Amino acid sequence: MALDIRPHGRVGAEILGVDLARPSAADLAQIRAAFAEYGVVFFRDQTIDEAQHIAFARALGPININRFFTAHPHHPEIALVLKEPDQRDNIGGGWHTDHSYDVEPALGSVLVARELPPQGGATAFASMYAAHDALPDHLRARIEGARAVHSARHVFGSKPGAYEAMRETSRDGRIGNAGAADVLDDVVHPVVIIHPLSGKRALYVNPAFTTAIVGLDPEDSRALLAELYAHALDPRFQETFHWRPGSIALWDNRATWHYAHNDYHGHRREMHRITIEGEPLH
Ligand SMILES: [Fe+2]
Repeated sequence: MALDIRPHGRVGAEILGVDLARPSAADLAQIRAAFAEYGVVFFRDQTIDEAQHIAFARALGPININRFFTAHPHHPEIALVLKEPDQRDNIGGGWHTDHSYDVEPALGSVLVARELPPQGGATAFASMYAAHDALPDHLRARIEGARAVHSARHVFGSKPGAYEAMRETSRDGRIGNAGAADVLDDVVHPVVIIHPLSGKRALYVNPAFTTAIVGLDPEDSRALLAELYAHALDPRFQETFHWRPGSIALWDNRATWHYAHNDYHGHRREMHRITIEGEPLH
């Protein structure tokens, strides 16, 4: 049966008519196709337990166990994205795409809402397909064939870095294993990738993990990245997803950025994240 797939404003699509506790092979094929096309897909009113969450993620690809996030106590495949009422900083509170610091960046994640604040805590997504397609000619020409360096050390490592929001969370136990980040080598990816599933071009630099453009001096590199980010952050390429009980998002790290709003102080928010392995990017 054909699923009902509706564009979610400017970014992503909502998929109706599927039960993710028991998706059929035909459901999964349609979900994969929509995922490749839209860069992020959303589901509402789902009731899935941890084992069904793991099974759904596994149907999309091998599971990547995150080195830095605290795992679910009974299911190591599940990372806890958690903010307690007394914590000020959240996880993911800056525009980024996960795992760009890996040689083979993760395909994406399945995020399940487990406990939500009464209001706030939305996640914004930005389409890097749209950002790429709208690049002005002068900027497009400057990144033709360019490659960029990505690193996790300034975010997850033990030394103070530029990304203080994520650093703060490391001190209260939600992010750990700083030593593993310290020894990670920087990696290089093309600034524009050919998306491995859709074949479309996407802009692939992000403000959290991209540290330099290969071959430029530091000042030119910073200036070019700033220009690319200013372009990519045009609200025309963004849409916000408001979580409700039973909401699930499946996003593609190669086609979208995301941003977790931190506007629900004094309330608990618990999300379960499973990340799926990706592949080298060209
Ligand atoms: Fe993230």
